Amino acid sequence: MMRDPTSRHLLLLLSLCWGQRSSSGAERPSCDSCDLQLSCICSHRQFTRVPRVTERALTLDLCFNNITTVTADDLTGHRELRALSLHGNILAEIHQAAFDCLWSLEELDLSDNQLTVLNPKWFRELGALQRLNLLNNPYSAVGSTPVFQGLVNLRRLAFGGPALKELKRAALSGVTQLEELTVYASNLDRYDSGTLAYVWPLGRVTLSLHGPFLTNTTLTSAVLRDVSYPETPIILQDLHLMDNQSIQPLRESAQRRIRRITFRNLSISDEGIVNLMKIFDGVPLEFLSTDGVTLTGEGRWEKASRTDQKSIDEFFARDAVVLDVFQFVSFLQLGFLLQYPRKVSVINSKVFVMPCATSALLKNLQYLDISDNLLTDMTLSETLCDGESKLKGLRVLNVSGNDLKSLSTLSHLVAKLEKLTHLDISRTSYSSMPPACSWPSTLRNLNISRAKLTSITSCLPATLEVLDLSSNNIQDFTVALPALRELHLSGNKLLQLPSGQLFPNLQTLNIRSNTLNMFGRTDLQAYKRLQNLQAGQNKFICSCEFVTFFQSGIQESGDFHLTDKEESYVCDSPFSLQGQLVGQVHLTIEMCHRVLFESVFCGLALLAGILLVVLLWRLHAFWYLRMIWAWLKAKHSSQRRRRIGHGAESEALLSYDAFVSYSERDAGWVETYLVPELEEPRGPQPLNLCLHKRDFLPGQWIVDNIINAMEQSRRTIFVLSENFVQSDWCRYELDFSHFRLFDGGASGEPAILILLEPLSQDDIPKRFCKLRKLMSSTTYLEWPQEEEKRENFWRSLHNALREEEDKENDGV
Ligand SMILES: *[C@@H]1O[C@H](CO)[C@@H](O)[C@H](O)[C@H]1NC(C)=O
Ligand SMILES: *[C@@H]1O[C@H](CO)[C@@H](O)[C@H](O)[C@H]1NC(C)=O
Ligand SMILES: *[C@@H]1O[C@H](CO)[C@@H](O)[C@H](O)[C@H]1NC(C)=O
Ligand SMILES: *[C@@H]1O[C@H](CO)[C@@H](O)[C@H](O)[C@H]1NC(C)=O
Ligand SMILES: *[C@@H]1O[C@H](CO)[C@@H](O)[C@H](O)[C@H]1NC(C)=O
Repeated sequence: MMRDPTSRHLLLLLSLCWGQRSSSGAERPSCDSCDLQLSCICSHRQFTRVPRVTERALTLDLCFNNITTVTADDLTGHRELRALSLHGNILAEIHQAAFDCLWSLEELDLSDNQLTVLNPKWFRELGALQRLNLLNNPYSAVGSTPVFQGLVNLRRLAFGGPALKELKRAALSGVTQLEELTVYASNLDRYDSGTLAYVWPLGRVTLSLHGPFLTNTTLTSAVLRDVSYPETPIILQDLHLMDNQSIQPLRESAQRRIRRITFRNLSISDEGIVNLMKIFDGVPLEFLSTDGVTLTGEGRWEKASRTDQKSIDEFFARDAVVLDVFQFVSFLQLGFLLQYPRKVSVINSKVFVMPCATSALLKNLQYLDISDNLLTDMTLSETLCDGESKLKGLRVLNVSGNDLKSLSTLSHLVAKLEKLTHLDISRTSYSSMPPACSWPSTLRNLNISRAKLTSITSCLPATLEVLDLSSNNIQDFTVALPALRELHLSGNKLLQLPSGQLFPNLQTLNIRSNTLNMFGRTDLQAYKRLQNLQAGQNKFICSCEFVTFFQSGIQESGDFHLTDKEESYVCDSPFSLQGQLVGQVHLTIEMCHRVLFESVFCGLALLAGILLVVLLWRLHAFWYLRMIWAWLKAKHSSQRRRRIGHGAESEALLSYDAFVSYSERDAGWVETYLVPELEEPRGPQPLNLCLHKRDFLPGQWIVDNIINAMEQSRRTIFVLSENFVQSDWCRYELDFSHFRLFDGGASGEPAILILLEPLSQDDIPKRFCKLRKLMSSTTYLEWPQEEEKRENFWRSLHNALREEEDKENDGV
């Protein structure tokens, strides 16, 4: 089995095509200019070898490099490749297996290179190839062996060039039908009759036979005979038809009753024209076209006027040049022809006027294209007979690319063309629109692209179905056009999509290259029938809203599609995203939900704050803080006092016998029982009490007052009760007594505790450690509820107060 050469060949091929490259590939340059559609444009890069590109590439454009050879493994692995162009290199050598892996290749362009022979082996695996271009290479013969035999799907074939001398019989063997055949053979001197004859159907033939037309009528006639069919348009390039002789080969085509003929790059004399007309006398030629014609004569064509050209339906002339304008008579000698055609185009031919008289001859005219000429408002008025139109049947008028300035003049001129449906006034100098215009009621398509309009008005007819306003300077669009299906607004200065309500029937909207910042779901939903939108190349602000909408929602907002490439939707701002594709930017959650993010963050912070406050409150932290502060203050002021004086001097400062610390709620008891008992001179010696209510200096800070009061008193009597425990000030007082206890220098107990109601140590909150300590260390007097025990209580209290006094007196 393995000895079978075909299977070995196949195996070798398979291993090659699955991307196993030989090591020689290592020095190859690479090209990574592939877009998302896997189209790799590597042209004009001065590559001298086929560069490496991704094997998934579908299109590879290597035009205009300096590639000299294609080796056996330059293109291995490219099984997906559909189109390969090597146009414009200096390719002289292609390995016979170079294209063997390109099983999907549909289009191959090897034109403008240095190939001196065509090797049939190049094409042996290209069963899918549809278009092959081999033009302008220096091979001198085609057809010694069949070249295109295996190309069963070939539809367009182009070969030949200035070097081609011989076309041999086998040239097109195997090629049975073509949509287009192009043969450049301007120096052909051998043609095997019948070589091009067996291709049928043949869609279109282009022949460049400059030399043979001039020198070898027989050969030329043989070629024309082989390709002329009534259904096949024929295009003849680069002819120089001056005398009777050089025209004669066209007789072959005329005899085969061709219907469509085009001359491209033609020079023709008056004699040439007259003879041409004679050759086609009575031939049902429908389409006569010249694309690039130089008229070298003076327009003396009367001899042709007796010919029959009734079947002429369309006459097309582009880039016509009259060599000697001053000698030229006029086209009027061909006036007899003008009554026949329905379509006339005279494009880019320096026409500055077509007289009304000539227009009047165009009885059948439905389509007139006089674009890219020198018409002005005035000469156009002459051409259209000042609006009293003779062109009653005109449906399409194209005056694009003329120097027209007044839109109201134009609308007046066409208003009576009762069948006009298409009007092309693009590339003109219209800079403003009148508020109102008159148009034929039939007008459906209006093209005012590339004019100079800055605003639009209701001059636009409501009957329009297609409107092209691209490349003007329009800033907004506010005119309602109920019938409009297509609107082209690219290249203007619109900041936002026009309101969809204006166009209930719009299906296509092109608003590329404007200054749109964004668009959204509601903008698009206003377009009830939109099917296709092109909005790329705008100044998109990649806000989260827009990006999210673009990436997820855009297809869901209707039945329409974005028909331009994803690459054309690029972020313009914010700066950090500039240049990135809208469809591919990645916005973080933080960027997208900043407000939400910030509110959640603030909310959490607030919550934490509240929790902290609650926690601190629960832990009585504020009380501790206040305490510490008051304590520091007290400490400070007691130190100050100590500096001022001590000992006896300080004793002199003692103006009260006792400071009574009590809760306001226990004021009743203090005032009814304590004060009368102690201050009244019933006992041996009335005492002088300090009561905050009575003796505090108004206007002084209460803590100062407390500290002063305590320092000016010998003792402090604490009236303890539930109320006391709950009063903050009392607690301060208790705490400040601390200083008296330790720095007062007074012996004995400076604090006397009176328990107004039974209060166990456990009832006192833990943080009042001072009080708890006092209660455990100091004996306290309990206020008896029974009347008879009170005598005893007062005595004890007096004793407690006096006892100390006595001690002091003893001490002195
Ligand atoms: C490629 O060719 C061009 C024109 O033929 C020439 O000017 C250029 O120097 C060449 N570049 C290289 C890298 O060979
Ligand atoms: C037009 O044809 C002439 C020969 O008649 C040729 O020399 C010239 O290069 C052609 N021009 C173009 C643009 O092909
Ligand atoms: C042109 O040549 C043809 C054949 O060569 C001849 O029949 C014809 O009369 C000539 N026409 C003119 C105007 O000389
Ligand atoms: C009018 O002429 C221009 C330029 O020749 C062409 O692009 C355009 O398609 C023509 N318009 C119509 C309606 O044929
Ligand atoms: C309008 O005219 C321009 C230029 O002449 C042409 O490119 C464009 O295709 C026309 N628009 C339509 C919708 O035919």
